[in-house]
Amino acid sequence: MKQYIFIHGKNTSLSQAELRSLYGDQVELQTVDYSVISTEQQLSQADQDRLGGTIKICEVVQGDLIEHIIQNSKNEKILFGVSQYSGHKRLSVVLMEVKNELKKEGRNCRFLNKNFANISSGQLNKSNILEKGIDLVLCHTKGDSFWAQTIAFQNIDAYSHRDYDKPRRDMKVGMMPPKLTQIMINFAHAKKGSAIYDPFCGLGTTLLETALMGYQPIGSDIKGRLVGNSIQNLEWMIKEFGEANPQLSTVNSQMVFQHDATQPFPQKSFPRNLSVVTEGYLGPPLLQFPQKDQQQEIFDLLDGINSKFFSEISQIIPSANRIVMSFPYFRSKKEKVFYPEDRLQKYAEKNDFVIENEFRSLLYERETQTVGREIVIFKKS
Ligand SMILES: C[S@@+](CC[C@H](N)C(=O)[O-])C[C@H]1O[C@@H](n2cnc3c(N)ncnc32)[C@H](O)[C@@H]1O
Repeated sequence: MKQYIFIHGKNTSLSQAELRSLYGDQVELQTVDYSVISTEQQLSQADQDRLGGTIKICEVVQGDLIEHIIQNSKNEKILFGVSQYSGHKRLSVVLMEVKNELKKEGRNCRFLNKNFANISSGQLNKSNILEKGIDLVLCHTKGDSFWAQTIAFQNIDAYSHRDYDKPRRDMKVGMMPPKLTQIMINFAHAKKGSAIYDPFCGLGTTLLETALMGYQPIGSDIKGRLVGNSIQNLEWMIKEFGEANPQLSTVNSQMVFQHDATQPFPQKSFPRNLSVVTEGYLGPPLLQFPQKDQQQEIFDLLDGINSKFFSEISQIIPSANRIVMSFPYFRSKKEKVFYPEDRLQKYAEKNDFVIENEFRSLLYERETQTVGREIVIFKKS
């Protein structure tokens, strides 16, 4: 059994929930900064690449740390980095201790840390330290601390490439960040290779991430123009990432079509094993925090769409499969106004779903934005 440390991204609750959803009972411990997971599998960069909420995966070092560094260092002069989580020692002290121990063993060494700060994903990327040296993390729990070696880290350039370089972008439609999309896809627990459907696909962010993660993407949108844009983005992805991701060769970009999600779904066009991951319609773009009556108006508008959508989609979702959907909430410095719980509860009860997460537990927001997203996981009974 191997023990791994998963270092969380900025949104702790989403990171923790994503790992619980993928690794279940194998999650041994979760702190604000990291999760400890035991598994028989040898994890690799491929496991990291499908996790939107983890910035590093590190394998726990068994036995003596200094011996481990010497055995695993690639060059005569050892290049190393150390990041500390939930720490109680100054990082400068930790770094000097490691350096001195290595010197005692007669090894020349240099640490990568700048200003005695943790090593960022960007630094990991630029320095190529996983190939040239060794990156370590020191994690503290209440009574204990342990060392781990980084084996994979979040490739921020790859996320930016697919977020910013795809041919079709439109700030008015509102685009899901790829990392959040991955987290939502992981919440769906879909069987490998099964179909994931986004009935409000917009520019196709969910379709792209779905395809990259080895599922079969299906998408629709009420607007024909956006359907065309989604297909273009999907085809770009297949071209751009196809060589490194052979599973993309089986993606059929024609599985994106125009459809109003409040109307009956063309049942015959869907595979039996279907899950839904979608952002849903967030309402008109807002420049400022809406007044009470405008909040009510937007929620009523969305409820009109969503209640019909749930009654139609429930006809094609098999038992035990999930709908993972985000709903908007309004936020200012002083308050947050959430999509009404009773309406979410109503979608579930009327259509044989149970809501798996607690309300307000899975939130995503950006400092500068008036609209946040609350994620709700519906499981078909
Ligand atoms: C927030 S956007 C989705 C953005 C998408 N997740 C992305 O990242 O590109 C919501 C989409 O819902 C679509 N929409 C609104 N009402 C709809 C309906 N009744 N049926 C289907 N799509 C609808 C809009 O055209 C819009 O593209």
